[in-house]
Amino acid sequence: MAVKSILYVCLGNICRSPLGEAIAKDMATKYHIDLECDSAGTGDWHVDEAPCSDSQKIALQHNIDISSYKARQVTKEDFDKFDLVIGLDRSNISNLKKLGCENPILLGDYGFDGADVPDPYFFDGFEGFDKVYDMIEKSTALLFQEKILVK
Ligand code: 4NP
Repeated sequence: MAVKSILYVCLGNICRSPLGEAIAKDMATKYHIDLECDSAGTGDWHVDEAPCSDSQKIALQHNIDISSYKARQVTKEDFDKFDLVIGLDRSNISNLKKLGCENPILLGDYGFDGADVPDPYFFDGFEGFDKVYDMIEKSTALLFQEKILVK
């Protein structure tokens, strides 16, 4: 069955998953495919906030503007609505399962041997955001090849 929608999920929906959403939207545009891409957090601390300034900055360095994104908390309806629910790290996967998501996908299973995308919330400044961006971009490219671009 063709994948028509994907949801990236992290903890706060202000650092990592907005980058996943943005990168996936960018890739869908480049491949000319109709794909709904969204993101959410398992926590509610940052609901309605824009992505953190360092995620905005690294996205802009790749010519993607995420300043209008707004954080939201994941809902049970998301698990029916989205074809793929993608966790950025293993604790996100565990939280998603506790919330009733039956088959979340770990992003790091695509190209990174199941590694977690590091949580940049506690990074000391901007350093490390380039690595986070590159990891999400490479994994997403592989995910597209294996799950989305297949006929
Ligand atoms: P994210 O980063 O899950 O990549 O959006 C975090 C944002 C906020 C918190 C933790 C991680 N927090 O504890 O508030």
